Amino acid sequence: MEREMSKELLEDWLLHVKDIAEIGKVADYIPALASQDPRHLAVGIHRVSGQTVYAGKADHLFTLQSVSKVIALALALLDNGEERVFSHVGMEPSGDPFHSIVKLETSKPSKPLNPMINAGALAVTDLIQGNTPDEKVGRILSFIHDLTSDKTIHFNQQVAESEFQSAFLNRSLCYFMKQHGVINGEVEDVLDAYTKQCSIEMNIKQLARLGAVFANDGYDLETLRPIIPRNLARICKSFMVTCGMYDASGEFAIKIGIPAKSGVSGAIMCSVKHYGGIAVFGPALDEKGNSVAGLKLLEYITKQGDLSIY
Ligand code: DON
Repeated sequence: MEREMSKELLEDWLLHVKDIAEIGKVADYIPALASQDPRHLAVGIHRVSGQTVYAGKADHLFTLQSVSKVIALALALLDNGEERVFSHVGMEPSGDPFHSIVKLETSKPSKPLNPMINAGALAVTDLIQGNTPDEKVGRILSFIHDLTSDKTIHFNQQVAESEFQSAFLNRSLCYFMKQHGVINGEVEDVLDAYTKQCSIEMNIKQLARLGAVFANDGYDLETLRPIIPRNLARICKSFMVTCGMYDASGEFAIKIGIPAKSGVSGAIMCSVKHYGGIAVFGPALDEKGNSVAGLKLLEYITKQGDLSIY
């Protein structure tokens, strides 16, 4: 049975997970992320009814990193249709780390297994309409402004540059896919757009609201205007279930059981149909790249609210 989630309860859980967070490690392969404070924790819930509750550092800005892959997928589907998108990227979980290159070579035809791993996300960003990287990023930002009704959201130039300079693995993935005709754009252009997309900044309130729009089947929360067609919102949530937590998606389904997407900044965005968006943030990560504190908070929240979709 669903039970009410109060601010006091969320604050209490934040205190509990503070110690657990210390076993995690802040991502440092993107140099600008290494300076994140692992004690900055936040949680937010935005119900489809409009009701909200937040706790912790609710105004602290963090970059979306891989959480942006869900939004980029929705926009690429709107721009190109399902047939074209899924001729460039598959629909199956990889069971490998998010930046793995191995299945690009062993899968036939040679295309990324899904849009939530880095290879698939790079191919998706390449598909977003726009003549230049900045035009693509501008379109992603406008889409986010529409989804959140918040035009203040932008990307963090310093984090984008830091990732662009150090993205050797992602460059390799792009060159491999360019050779096989999976991406058509220039590698540096794809990386430019992708690293800016990953560097889009939000706080927990904005991320919970974004999650709520997916939970609301793509309809604007106030006007009920369809921003993402219901079927495309459903596709995005299905990928969140099967691939959103990378090679921890199976364990996440058993322990927590809701559509979710994580990023190496320590953010996780969740969307529970008819319920709303849940966002958690804690920069210390486990070995698979998921927020340690975030996972524990989601365990508490989904148990309390009986939210597992299974
Ligand atoms: O491409 C990268 O490596 C980062 N911009 C995003 C990776 C990420 O968030 C994967 N997450 N767990």
